[in-house]
Amino acid sequence: DQIEKSGYDHFMLKEIYEQPTAIKDTFRGRMLADDGIIKMAGIDDHLEKFVNANRIIIAACGTSWHAGLVAEYIFEDIARIPVEVEYASEFRYRNPVIHRNDILIAISQSGETADTMAAIKLAKENGAFVFGVCNVVGSSISRETNAGAYTHAGPEIGVASTKAFTTQITVLSLIALKLGKAKGTISNSDFHSYLHEMESIPSKIEIALDKNDHILKVADNYKLAKNCLYLGRGYNFPVALEGALKLKEISYIHAEGYPAAEMKHGPIALIDEEMPVVVIATRKGHYEKVVSNIQEIKSRKGKIIAIVTEGDNTVEEMADHVIEVPETFEAFTPLLTTIPLQLLSYHIAVMLGKNVDQPRNLAKSVTVE
Ligand code: G6P
Repeated sequence: DQIEKSGYDHFMLKEIYEQPTAIKDTFRGRMLADDGIIKMAGIDDHLEKFVNANRIIIAACGTSWHAGLVAEYIFEDIARIPVEVEYASEFRYRNPVIHRNDILIAISQSGETADTMAAIKLAKENGAFVFGVCNVVGSSISRETNAGAYTHAGPEIGVASTKAFTTQITVLSLIALKLGKAKGTISNSDFHSYLHEMESIPSKIEIALDKNDHILKVADNYKLAKNCLYLGRGYNFPVALEGALKLKEISYIHAEGYPAAEMKHGPIALIDEEMPVVVIATRKGHYEKVVSNIQEIKSRKGKIIAIVTEGDNTVEEMADHVIEVPETFEAFTPLLTTIPLQLLSYHIAVMLGKNVDQPRNLAKSVTVE
């Protein structure tokens, strides 16, 4: 067991630290940044279908659903394809409208989730093309789909998904960029810049991981919290959902993720000096708006933990704690902002003595409804 954990106390921590390598493995052989090429057999073989798709429906569960939400932003932004993200469990029973020109992308780490599998079957019955993004090679979902792309994250043992999430976002970003290029919705020079930026993501994750000692200290301040709110906008709204999910899964602290601007329609009523609020406030993407959300929390005495871009002084003056991540393109910020949230929930759960790798009532893959 200790050997498998390579000296880490838990699989989850090991898998958090594996992310720079896992992401390199995801784009290795697919992304040739200097040549300006993305090669993905599953897309190349069906490029026409993707380019002419009316819309993309993404079906998934849990953390994979959050990766789907990030993908919605990047597909619409870069490839200008309308996207709907569905909980597989709702989609399968909703009598959804599915057309022959729709593409369903199923995202699943295990490739065994029963609801996601049922969504695939339903889409196929209605004539849609089904593409899988799985981690486990040869899994049921990877066999049932018409085509697909593996994440190549390596085995994920911790029940709380970490490297599967960031590698799913990586694969989906590559697909969006490839389609953007094929459709001409992104310029050649932007395409090249995105590829070079993607190449730098693993080393930027290393820098985010280097903040671990600081995050441990931050965690110590909040381990006794009863509730926690996570806020983000745009690309980082799904990251807020994922951060909250990580905390509740392994520490059993009640946590909610919300789009920052929706705070005023409900969650703001909960804010008092007892309420920690984790705000993703990176400089790209609605920064000023998020800063004004932070002011609203501050004036109600909420405790603010802000995830900020390196060198940010504005938020630092307002927040109780800041955790820095390197600067990157807005579309890639989720790959960095997720890291401190994973570490924060990990440390809180360890301090509370919880079973981090196998939290109560949860399973790594849910093969029944
Ligand atoms: C379970 C796991 C989660 C995972 C979800 C979907 O709930 O505990 O970590 O995100 O299933 O699993 P999948 O294998 O389809 O991504």
